[in-house]
Amino acid sequence: VKMERIFIFALTLAMVLAMSIFDTEWQNWKAIYGKEYSSLQEEWFRRAIWEKTKKEVLEHNRLADLGIKSYWTELNHFADMTSDELMSKGCLLPPGLQEDIAEEFNNRTDVIKIPAIDWRNKHCVTPVKNQLSCNSCWIFAAVGVVESRYCIQYKKLYSLSEQQVLDCAGKGCDFGNPKDTWNYINKAGGIMKEDDYAYTGKNESCRFILSKSCMRVNITYGDLANEEDLANEVAHHGPVVIGMNMSDLFSKYNGEGVFYEEECNAEKKHVVVVVGYNTTEGGDDYWIIKNSWGTEWGNKGYAYIRRNVNLCDMKKYIFKAEISK
Ligand SMILES: *[C@@H]1O[C@H](CO)[C@@H](O)[C@H](O)[C@H]1NC(C)=O
Ligand SMILES: *[C@@H]1O[C@H](CO)[C@@H](O)[C@H](O)[C@H]1NC(C)=O
Ligand SMILES: *[C@@H]1O[C@H](CO)[C@@H](O)[C@H](O)[C@H]1NC(C)=O
Ligand SMILES: *[C@@H]1O[C@H](CO)[C@@H](O)[C@H](O)[C@H]1NC(C)=O
Ligand SMILES: *[C@@H]1O[C@H](CO)[C@@H](O)[C@H](O)[C@H]1NC(C)=O
Repeated sequence: VKMERIFIFALTLAMVLAMSIFDTEWQNWKAIYGKEYSSLQEEWFRRAIWEKTKKEVLEHNRLADLGIKSYWTELNHFADMTSDELMSKGCLLPPGLQEDIAEEFNNRTDVIKIPAIDWRNKHCVTPVKNQLSCNSCWIFAAVGVVESRYCIQYKKLYSLSEQQVLDCAGKGCDFGNPKDTWNYINKAGGIMKEDDYAYTGKNESCRFILSKSCMRVNITYGDLANEEDLANEVAHHGPVVIGMNMSDLFSKYNGEGVFYEEECNAEKKHVVVVVGYNTTEGGDDYWIIKNSWGTEWGNKGYAYIRRNVNLCDMKKYIFKAEISK
């Protein structure tokens, strides 16, 4: 009986210890990402998702360490979100995108190949922003390209207002297309600065004032048909918007390695800005993309994704824009 008691005592102690170690990890993660839940029930629900994510992340990173996967993941601020909730971090693009491929944008013969480019080094990329829980990546990507292209042409870098487009283009936080943003800016006659019209991530009433507009630009846009044209465009003219099918693991990418998955989620699409490209020492070509999920995600908000493999069907969604005054 005594032995049994000691055994039960030891077992209980071991369990309590195991649970508290486990708990420490959860508590630490919550603290790092400032997570607070409204009820205990909510916390258990989130924790169960977090646990599932943790398993996926550990398994993925084990494969990455073995060289089977080309990139690493982490338990970031999306770790307690369901797949459906992550959907709101994307933005489904309407069909028929290939209708207006601009012929003149393709098959350029005047281009010289440049092995690598990174527009961040040329100080023409604004800091990484955060779309929050709003399907507004089509605004962030399109505005990001206007900011960079304006800077490249007119030598001034302004951070522009995504909230203006959100409130005034008529779509609110609904899914959209980068072209909706560019059309809106053309029609509105300008766009205000981020500082004068800050982002809230909620559809509010339109507060655009033409006289406070930061720039008056004429944006023309079109689609590019392949990654070669994309590289030439990025190298010679500046950042371009690309869209692609999402992958739940992409949301856990930690910035290490080059993101690559053969299969991606056909139901979810996301758009980002290509700010450059390069090749790893191992010979893998990659795009440098600027995302709109905050600086906590990926490599300070950026990601490296495989190039020239039509990753997640990105070839279908390459949108370039040119601006003039
Ligand atoms: C580009 O060139 C390819 C092959 O050279 C041709 O099939 C295609 O029609 C051309 N596209 C355009 C838009 O001119
Ligand atoms: C491309 O990557 C190499 C390292 O792999 C780096 O030395 C080089 O500066 C990069 N090029 C650009 C344009 O960033
Ligand atoms: C956004 O809010 C405005 C009112 O502020 C409303 O008129 C509009 O219909 C809303 N748009 C969407 C897509 O919900
Ligand atoms: C905008 O630019 C395009 C192409 O350069 C031009 O055809 C068009 O007339 C311009 N629109 C306005 C309103 O200036
Ligand atoms: C991407 O999504 C489309 C549906 O929009 C699907 O037909 C296609 O197979 C998907 N491709 C990849 C690589 O996930």
